[in-house]
Amino acid sequence: MKISVEHRSLAGCQCDLLAVGVFEGEKRPSGAAAAADKELNGLISRLMRDGEITGKLAATTVIHCGDGKAGKVAVAGLGRRDKLDLEAVRAAAAAIIKRAKETKARTVASIVLGSGCDCLVPEAAAKAVVEGSVLGLYEFTGYAKEKEAPEFKVGQLVLIDKDAKKIGAFTRGARLGLIIAEAENHARDLVNEPSNRMTPAAFAQLAQRIAKINGLKFASLDPKAAGMGALWSVAKGSDQPPRFVTLEYRGKPGAKEKLALIGKGITFDSGGISLKPSKNMEEMKSDMAGAAAVLGVMSLLADLKPKKNVLGIIPLTENMPSGHASKPGDVIDSLSGCTIEITNTDAEGRLILADAITYAKKHGATRIIDVATLTGGCSTALGDAATGIMGNDQVLLDEIIKTGNRCGQRMWQLPLYDEYKEALKSKVADLKNTSGTGKASPSSGAAFLAKFVGDTPWAHLDIAGTAFLDKGRGYLPEGATGVPVRTLIEFLNA
Ligand code: BES
Ligand code: MN
Ligand code: ZN
Repeated sequence: MKISVEHRSLAGCQCDLLAVGVFEGEKRPSGAAAAADKELNGLISRLMRDGEITGKLAATTVIHCGDGKAGKVAVAGLGRRDKLDLEAVRAAAAAIIKRAKETKARTVASIVLGSGCDCLVPEAAAKAVVEGSVLGLYEFTGYAKEKEAPEFKVGQLVLIDKDAKKIGAFTRGARLGLIIAEAENHARDLVNEPSNRMTPAAFAQLAQRIAKINGLKFASLDPKAAGMGALWSVAKGSDQPPRFVTLEYRGKPGAKEKLALIGKGITFDSGGISLKPSKNMEEMKSDMAGAAAVLGVMSLLADLKPKKNVLGIIPLTENMPSGHASKPGDVIDSLSGCTIEITNTDAEGRLILADAITYAKKHGATRIIDVATLTGGCSTALGDAATGIMGNDQVLLDEIIKTGNRCGQRMWQLPLYDEYKEALKSKVADLKNTSGTGKASPSSGAAFLAKFVGDTPWAHLDIAGTAFLDKGRGYLPEGATGVPVRTLIEFLNA
């Protein structure tokens, strides 16, 4: 979909679908929609008074206009005026673009929803409209050869405003929204890809291509040769060779600060010898969602040019049962030198992250953020409504939580009490990979990672509940969501 911003009025705007927004509980359209076109204004007002248009968030009504330049008008609910935020704008924009697709409108012209309200900055509103639209149209096309009629594609979205002074800000916001939403959609694609195609080697190759295009320093190591015993203990049960990928962006040469972004890249998690039940096991192709998010973020840095040094670290492997696989009770040597008793081979994410964290510290990371589909318990606790966040640096955590809220990617902090660390003590090794109690697994997983992090400021994002949905809603599709690409980009770009 092509996106542009044009200085023009609603009246006489030529397009297949013209989109305007209305607030819940009000009797007439406000702002641009009201001012632009008397006839349209009267029509919408009447429908609002009759209760046919409610203004409820993301409810849309399509009106056929006969002889106007615009074939149809979509009126989208923005919810209550006093509740308006960027997430409401994204939701309304997604609803509009979905209606456009349904009604086969090839060109869509839209006012920048919410930009008439003082509570939203014009640039941010335009960015949110584009994010909602581009994310809302996402679909994983898959590999079915026998398709029905070729799919209809919305060709163009034009953001319009008759105030010339706003056009610059809208253009900046729209450009930013487009590249960010496309990066998030790309991350979704990688996660939706089946694991027989998205192998560790395939992921590494893709990362190499992205690094080359963006001028990032790239490396792909053999974990076994690099002494990564914890990563290798997971990988050795699989026939697919593991990879340890790094991508480096230097936006502040000479500075010592370096943020490491680590993404869990289990391309398929069968559980290993501690085999998972077969129900829904196919969803475990999504166990590399953290890796996909990190690659998505790294792919944008060359465009956004934040003045920061960022090291992307992506440990990649399958977790499979076989005659070569690690067994419960095995004791392994991690890269840090710390020995680990494997009490459950299904707690593999923390093992590969442990070596990634050690690598980050050895390579000068001064702050660490890891992103991982780490525990089913996080999904049990928070569902898909929020990502679990834990760490050792409250300032860093607060900043990420705040950024997540602004991006519509909620985070909820879970505790990291000493009791959880205590429960990981092993009789035969420096620590074990699970407490064995089955309790508080998100915190227990974080407590395991904390041991390797030491006192480097660190945040751990458990996206097990938010990375992959059974059912789509709003601009989130069924399957991969791309969480938390937007949050991390905004965090880095601040
Ligand atoms: N990849 C899973 C976590 C997961 C489960 C993600 C469901 C998304 C949806 C992870 O490797 C895992 O198996 N975790 C175990 C940890 C346990 C053995 C301590 C879990 O959550 O059961
Ligand atoms: Mn597992
Ligand atoms: Zn896993």
